[in-house]
Amino acid sequence: MKREEQKKKVLNIRNDFPIFKNSDLIYLDSAATSQKPECVLRAQQDFYEKYNANPYRGMYELGEAATEQYEQARETVRHFLNAKSSDEIVFTRNATEGLNLLSYSLADHILQPGDEILITIMEHHSNLLPWQLAAKRHGANLCYIECNEEGEFTEEDFKQALTPKTKIVSMTQVSNVLGCENNIKRFAQIAHENGSIFIADGAQSVPHMPVDVQDLDVDFLSFSGHKMLAPMGIGVLYGKKKWLEEIPPFLSGGEMIQSVTRDHAVYAEVPHKFEAGTVNAGGAAALGAAIHYYEKIGFDFIQEQEQSLSIRAMEALRNIKGIHILGSKDPKKHHGIISFTLDGVHPHDIAAILDADHIAIRAGHHCAQPLLKHLGVLSAARVSLAFYNTENEIDKLAESVGSIRRRMGYVESDVL
Ligand SMILES: Cc1ncc(COP(=O)(O)O)c(C=O)c1O
Repeated sequence: MKREEQKKKVLNIRNDFPIFKNSDLIYLDSAATSQKPECVLRAQQDFYEKYNANPYRGMYELGEAATEQYEQARETVRHFLNAKSSDEIVFTRNATEGLNLLSYSLADHILQPGDEILITIMEHHSNLLPWQLAAKRHGANLCYIECNEEGEFTEEDFKQALTPKTKIVSMTQVSNVLGCENNIKRFAQIAHENGSIFIADGAQSVPHMPVDVQDLDVDFLSFSGHKMLAPMGIGVLYGKKKWLEEIPPFLSGGEMIQSVTRDHAVYAEVPHKFEAGTVNAGGAAALGAAIHYYEKIGFDFIQEQEQSLSIRAMEALRNIKGIHILGSKDPKKHHGIISFTLDGVHPHDIAAILDADHIAIRAGHHCAQPLLKHLGVLSAARVSLAFYNTENEIDKLAESVGSIRRRMGYVESDVL
């Protein structure tokens, strides 16, 4: 798409987001949570205004309409991920909940003392702590694949980390700190050859690239709606049907059973077996609307826009004195995530100064403390982009970051 056309399209897109209207907010924290377009907010409100009843429970017209809304959203997610069946789509609260579900239901089902769970050093705590706890519960070992400074490890590194005892491999598709992408398709294939189950953390990939679970051939994939335009409190765990059928439920309670006696229960079919209690039907309907919005914009445009902004941001930021960008030098390998440090300035000060310029970024350890330790940094500032960001915003970011050391009282000749 021509640059001018692209710019025009972004401006039109921004009109769909109430938070950007009449506001000078420069929002560069979409990896934490994305902003929400009007159609998504409307879909959630519509559910409560027009369809509100408890799905599966209300045996009357409104209850059936609520169930239909919820199940339509499930089918929308199925289509978006190209899953074989909507039975493979479990609604959760977020990526974290999906991973925790597996760390109980799956791990309890298959782990024996001495078994191994393999993750990478770049995992978000949500794909690390559940496995740490599962390993402790089962006397299993939690093993790590290291990466280099660019966030890369080779197929050979991966093969060497696998052993006959590796029962579970769980890996992020895109790092929330380095923005690098792991070749999930290839790693899943190698893991399967080893007889291991492969879980993908899609929290930072699903919002930014087409993810086809059949093509990737992962056993499970977990992600959050709120990072992809939907409200907080709705997420998805994709799981191959044979696995979902085989493993026991995680949470138990209403609507996840066929029958209950004093001492025994027969569970409902999948996916309902994993959706105990009243579900977030309004959130699911809004996630469905978010997916339709994605489909309208198209991943071709989304990827082109996010990549061109990444290039612009990295080219501008890397010229600033004292800056160190974490990860690859190639902007195309950042998926819109640019973490950096600035000599002599704590990342929290960077974020506070940018905030004074109405620029929202994240600072801290990004819930990835082992990775930061591995990279030798205590904390970092992180810019994360989405397709609704503009070139103008990137230019303002660069100008602001470029002024920080001066605003903190350093002079040009300061050697740090
Ligand atoms: C890679 C990755 N995994 C998991 C999560 C957890 O997502 P949530 O807090 O929505 O459950 C995040 C959140 O930032 C993430 O970046």
